[in-house]
Amino acid sequence: METVLITGGAGFIGRFVADELLARGNKVRVLDSLIEQVHGDVERPPLLNDEVELIRGDVRNGDVVTKALAGVDSVIHLAAEVGVGQSMYEVERYTSTNDVGTAVLFEKLIDQPVRRVVTASSMSIYGEGLYRDADGALVQDAERKGLRDGLSNWEPVDTQGRPLAPVATPEWKQPNLASIYALNKYVQERTTHIMAAPYGIEGVCLRLFNVYGPGQALSNPYTGVLAIFASRLLNGQQPMIFEDGEQRRDFVHVSDVARAFADALVLPQAVGGTFNIGSGHDRSVTEVATELARAMGKNDITPEIVGKARIGDIRHCFCDTSLAQDKLGFAATQDFTQGLAELAEWVAQQTAVDKVATMRAELEKRGLVA
Ligand SMILES: NC(=O)c1ccc[n+]([C@@H]2O[C@H](COP(=O)([O-])OP(=O)(O)OC[C@H]3O[C@@H](n4cnc5c(N)ncnc54)[C@H](O)[C@@H]3O)[C@@H](O)[C@H]2O)c1
Repeated sequence: METVLITGGAGFIGRFVADELLARGNKVRVLDSLIEQVHGDVERPPLLNDEVELIRGDVRNGDVVTKALAGVDSVIHLAAEVGVGQSMYEVERYTSTNDVGTAVLFEKLIDQPVRRVVTASSMSIYGEGLYRDADGALVQDAERKGLRDGLSNWEPVDTQGRPLAPVATPEWKQPNLASIYALNKYVQERTTHIMAAPYGIEGVCLRLFNVYGPGQALSNPYTGVLAIFASRLLNGQQPMIFEDGEQRRDFVHVSDVARAFADALVLPQAVGGTFNIGSGHDRSVTEVATELARAMGKNDITPEIVGKARIGDIRHCFCDTSLAQDKLGFAATQDFTQGLAELAEWVAQQTAVDKVATMRAELEKRGLVA
């Protein structure tokens, strides 16, 4: 049994991680500034387990971090501003919380070292996922030339203009940082590995794919595609899908992710590693929007296909789970249809302010939708 500090632990993933750690007999402390975009105006998120000790404070504030680290055995670092599109204009805000916040945490860890730190990274660091060309060779640096040239040809092609086929992306694929958020997540990852070992701390990073589940902020239009779709459907609006909806992703249930964090915190073979965490299944965005509408009993609402791309978005990226499977014994167990049904049930009890039109206007006025 340990005392675990979860930064950003009052958020969507953090609350599930807290439940999982408590269920395994740990004590949990959370450091979270409860940002308005995610939490609205609350003193304590209602879904945060009552047994969690909550310190409301900013991860960039050294004194607060020092206090939060007192008596702590290990850390799960989740505190972040989360949103690819928004990071492309709120550059300072994202870089400050994500990069500087991580720097402050590790600087404070020099004087108050812990056994292990597990940091949440993201599939966004890959940029485009891995592809295979017509000759069967793997391609790491796929580019969306059609998009660059202002054409609506969404699919990446090879140097000769031939189409590429997406394949599951493993950890060895080189990062291709296409947004400030991706850059931030890579900085968090590298900071963890650079700072942990020299100070006798065990560092681990988990690259999460698209996490979904009950409790994801429904009124935050900048992150969580399934929550955004759910919020639209709840308000009788069409889910808004950029491009043509055929882009493929891996949707992993938050309970599987919580298990992955709890395991990564204790397994000896995790130390020094960076692991993809996904379901191992890829789905198109239109497919998930349609399935969600069905789960919510809103079959009559079909998605709106915007036919434009957001700058920084990638075409296909889905998870090769073999490393996490082989080294950590990790396999996602939550069935997608069942997960959606459970999400639909939770959403039905919520009210959500639909801010998707505002988000689109924010991006369009800055030329971030093409
Ligand atoms: N949700 C996903 O699909 C996904 C995918 C990949 C990676 N991640 C990563 O997982 C982590 C958790 O994401 P989430 O989906 O739970 O997001 P979330 O927004 O629900 O949680 C983030 C939490 O961090 C807190 N926070 C923000 N700025 C802070 C600051 N300066 N100081 C202290 N706390 C602060 C927020 O109040 C929030 O509670 C993040 O690091 C995110 O980048 C999430």
